[in-house]
Amino acid sequence: MSPETIKIFDTTLRDGEQSPGASMNTEEKIQIAAQLERLGVDIIEAGFAAASPGDFDAIEKIAQRVTTSTICSLARAIDSDIKSAGEAIAKAKMKRIHTFIATSSIHMEHKLKMTPDEVIRRAVRAVSYARTFVEDVEFSCEDAGRSDMGFMKEISDAVIEAGATTINLPDTVGFRLPSEIGAMVKEMSEYTRGRAIISVHNHNDLGLGVANSLEAVVNGARQVECTINGLGERAGNAALEEIVMALKTRSDIFANYTTNINTTEIYPSSRLIASITGIEPQPNKAIVGKNAFAHESGIHQDGMLKNKATYEIITPESIGLVKDDTLVLGKHSGRAAFKDKLAKLGFILDEEALNASFARFKIMADRKKEIYDDDLRALVTNEMTKATQIYELLSLQLMDCSDGVPSAAVKIKTHKDEIIEAGIGAGTMDAIFKTIDRISGYEGQLLDYKVKSVSQGKDALASVTVKVSFNGEPAIIGHGLNIDTMLASARAYIGALNSYLSMEGKLKSRHSDSSKTV
Ligand code: KIV
Ligand code: ZN
Repeated sequence: MSPETIKIFDTTLRDGEQSPGASMNTEEKIQIAAQLERLGVDIIEAGFAAASPGDFDAIEKIAQRVTTSTICSLARAIDSDIKSAGEAIAKAKMKRIHTFIATSSIHMEHKLKMTPDEVIRRAVRAVSYARTFVEDVEFSCEDAGRSDMGFMKEISDAVIEAGATTINLPDTVGFRLPSEIGAMVKEMSEYTRGRAIISVHNHNDLGLGVANSLEAVVNGARQVECTINGLGERAGNAALEEIVMALKTRSDIFANYTTNINTTEIYPSSRLIASITGIEPQPNKAIVGKNAFAHESGIHQDGMLKNKATYEIITPESIGLVKDDTLVLGKHSGRAAFKDKLAKLGFILDEEALNASFARFKIMADRKKEIYDDDLRALVTNEMTKATQIYELLSLQLMDCSDGVPSAAVKIKTHKDEIIEAGIGAGTMDAIFKTIDRISGYEGQLLDYKVKSVSQGKDALASVTVKVSFNGEPAIIGHGLNIDTMLASARAYIGALNSYLSMEGKLKSRHSDSSKTV
């Protein structure tokens, strides 16, 4: 008997983006969607179209770009949400609307203030309306983990009758244990057999998101919702890489199931999301953590040298982590070699992006002797995911420090002209950021600052991530890359400012209309 395919529904761009500080700009979302397509996910939940014009725009652009994954937008069970979702995904080759309403007593009574009958009516109306836009409609019983089984059967009957093709059972608050999820999924999949696909969506509040998803598969779920690096609300969602690699590595147990995921794209996907959101997986995170393949103790190293299988159940190569990250290109490398190398790393750039990346590469190669795969990944990601550059750093001059007054002279290009300003600060960084604030007229509050070296060597690239709140709005992440840490910091700060300006509308609407948060 050939194995059944478990659909992988990735919600990094929707539930993942709901992680504090993980807001992404449209360009960043497009790059992530392209990577998710390479990874082979079946469904990409590209966002929540009604949340803001920015969300709508990103979903619409992704829908036009991606061809082999289904593009989905979330929508509350409200006509205006469903209309936005339907319009945003209209141009997708394969499209889905995902609508939801809470079905647990606690949510219906206290949050929705609706009776169960009203909830059913709303759900049916939402699904019927969604079907006027698409054939593929997913309905979620929000807080299914704490919902009454009888009620979930009743509402599922009604929405299937109205045209829902997938019934998702989210453990919204991450409360359930694997045995409980298994029992819920078994009963619901037997009940709906042949009428709808049962899906699960497990949050990780008790650290059980992945275990619950695997138990769901064995009990009849044929779609699993998850995120790269386990990003998501609070403790996050079940991690895609862990679910997929568990199914693959334990094919003795999961012999009847397979996925469409190309596992060698797992590591590049994880790196892309970490660098865009600035949220690094913990070092000991399964599959993609920095230490996931590190063998520290002498006994383990000895075993590994004799036979890797002694301590390694997954090969780094199988997730696309090529350990032999040798010197790749240098300052004499040409554009063709550069393009070829990028293609090997999974980056297919259009002419404009290729030229911009190549120009940056040449500058880097002049100053840095050895260029590694990670340097190239960082450089290209940085180049591709830039928000529209309203402000561009032209030059930076610093006067320090040891006993004088730290000061910075910053030259910035705007769409209209070039502006030079100088300012002082408590330290060099403070002087740089304050001077940029003076030029832009936006006051930024630095909430977090991280610097890490991209690869090895004293001349390593500094990758700076800043988290800034402009004018008291929700925090925005910015990235800067340069051999010089101060230049990288200035770029990161300006990057955050550009993202803030490109998302200003979105942040305002999220801020002022809390009823729109999911
Ligand atoms: O956790 C949840 O219940 C959700 C739904 C909107 C599917 O994210
Ligand atoms: Zn969720």
